[in-house]
Amino acid sequence: MKTIFSGIQPSGTLTLGNYLGALVQFTELQNEHDCYFCIVDEHAITVPQGRLQLREQIRSLAALYLASGIDPKKATLFIQSEVPAHTQMGWMLQSISYVGELERMTQYKDKSEGKEGVSSALLTYPALMASDILLYNTDIVPVGEDQTQHMELTRNLAQRFNNRFNDILTVPEISIPKVGARIMSLQNPEKKMSKSDSNTKGFVSLLDEPKRIEKKIKSAVTDSEGIVKFDKESKPGISNLLTIMASCTGRSITELEEAFEGEGYGVFKQAVADAVIEKLAPIQEKYADLINSEELDAILDHGAEKASMTANKTLAKAKKAMGLGRKRK
Ligand code: AMP
Ligand code: TRP
Repeated sequence: MKTIFSGIQPSGTLTLGNYLGALVQFTELQNEHDCYFCIVDEHAITVPQGRLQLREQIRSLAALYLASGIDPKKATLFIQSEVPAHTQMGWMLQSISYVGELERMTQYKDKSEGKEGVSSALLTYPALMASDILLYNTDIVPVGEDQTQHMELTRNLAQRFNNRFNDILTVPEISIPKVGARIMSLQNPEKKMSKSDSNTKGFVSLLDEPKRIEKKIKSAVTDSEGIVKFDKESKPGISNLLTIMASCTGRSITELEEAFEGEGYGVFKQAVADAVIEKLAPIQEKYADLINSEELDAILDHGAEKASMTANKTLAKAKKAMGLGRKRK
């Protein structure tokens, strides 16, 4: 049994990309491993958020984790800011992070480019992410491909800490799903599907109504060739829809290419829409039951308590290794 940790930011309603790139893996992993799934609200405030909206999104994300199949009996689900060890350890890891390596992160460059008033937390964010992971002696971090660079830095920080102080942190591995690792925007298939996209037609939200899902998929950008074939380079739009359909149905891409041979894009898009709607229906139903329930609060309270126990142990060891506080027996 390994220890697994992953986190999602409560910065908008989850998309089909989050679901296929992250959540599906999570629900599989919880059956065999010791899993921690975190709502990383302290990461979300690295860019400005509205107070009430943030609070709503935190709760909504918790309900979506559960609706997607996270079982609180198997996995620990909790909110990052309810476990103070994260920011404490985050600060300690910042002290061994270099400004140069933080400035090299592409996510930082993308999010700060051309902007004024960029928060310093946006720059130091990877140290907090490393803290999230390292506090739990995590072996494996399942994330989408876009997190590779942050994971490399996390590994470097763990090794640096171990070399400099004491060998106490586990150096984690990244795990990326084979199909669905990178679901692209429906409007711009060169760009990843993102919940913070200003063009809402670019993503399917997990809570979109069936009619809306159908409309968005039908207006997805494709090409004029009229052949349903996977070719990421010259047919990014169709390839993305094939990936989506394969992930939602469990059918292989080759199988789908054969099934839609000779069919136009209209028929294909309808089938993709149907597959997505069918996949999301039970999730939406469960979400509606959970969102205002006391059960949700009880699960999060319990999760924070359990996570704190593990996190505080690692934090105490790390503080001791660094020489912080007083020496205790
Ligand atoms: P974020 O929405 O950036 O907080 O990401 C939450 C998780 O979903 C991370 O593991 C991401 O790598 C993953 N993810 C986000 N967008 C996509 C996407 N378009 N395709 C696949 N995985 C994604
Ligand atoms: N940085 C991740 C993202 O933007 C979110 C995240 C924060 C995370 N802490 C984490 C993911 C720890 C995995 C493990 O998607």
